[in-house]
Amino acid sequence: MKVLEDFPSVQLPLEWLPPMKTRAFSISSSPLAHPNQVHLTVSVVSLTTPFKRNRAGLCSAWLANLDPSKGFLMDEHSLCALWGIHRRKGLQSQSTSTAPVMFFFGCRNEENDFLYKDFWLSLAENDGVLSESEGGGFFVAFSRDQPWKVYVQDKMRERGHQVWSLMNSGAAVYVAGSSTKMPSDVWSALEDVVVKEGEVPKDSAVRWLRSLEKSGRYHVEAWS
Ligand SMILES: NC(=O)c1ccc[n+]([C@@H]2O[C@H](COP(=O)([O-])OP(=O)(O)OC[C@H]3O[C@@H](n4cnc5c(N)ncnc54)[C@H](OP(=O)(O)O)[C@@H]3O)[C@@H](O)[C@H]2O)c1
Repeated sequence: MKVLEDFPSVQLPLEWLPPMKTRAFSISSSPLAHPNQVHLTVSVVSLTTPFKRNRAGLCSAWLANLDPSKGFLMDEHSLCALWGIHRRKGLQSQSTSTAPVMFFFGCRNEENDFLYKDFWLSLAENDGVLSESEGGGFFVAFSRDQPWKVYVQDKMRERGHQVWSLMNSGAAVYVAGSSTKMPSDVWSALEDVVVKEGEVPKDSAVRWLRSLEKSGRYHVEAWS
């Protein structure tokens, strides 16, 4: 539509235009922690075109301008790390026993995009759901805060023993983030962890991880 505004002499019948692309967003809150609310964590897209015009992302800007007190309806549900952790926290506050959680968080810089920093850190303290005293842990990988890349899978390899121990005692794996290379690299790191800590050959490790996937204990939510 914006292109057509730039060229008003072009009279294109509206029905020739393709339908607008669907945008999928992850729900980042749990109904246990926030009953009757849905939280979305969205980066508002804003850019300058080659013609030096400022443009905002259609859906992200629309969301950012909504009045939360008025509410809106959604028809899709999906899971992400934040949702899961909120849920665990909700269960813990209801004194329901929760299994240990290891959470690996990766972003570019601690300074700019360590989203929910205070929330994560508070859960890693005392007897929080991510605390080591509860058998879990919180691990960060800031990829661009040093001259070499550090990614979540590097942190998983470092903590391979604990990762294996949780997975082997029934833990589920949730992978959320960019769909380009991250999910396959995380999978490879877990293969290495299973080989090393489980002392099995690579093909057995692959079969074991696939069986987790089949039984609903390995989930990937990725976007590009
Ligand atoms: N302008 C900004 O400052 C800024 C900051 C964050 C996000 N964004 C934009 O927001 C959008 C979404 O961001 P996002 O957080 O989903 O993605 P992202 O920032 O592109 O990636 C998140 C983290 O994953 C890392 N990563 C890249 N390849 C990986 C791999 N193979 N395995 C494991 N980790 C890997 C990234 O490191 P590296 O990228 O360092 O390799 C980064 O630390 C992107 O389109 C991005 O352009 C902009």
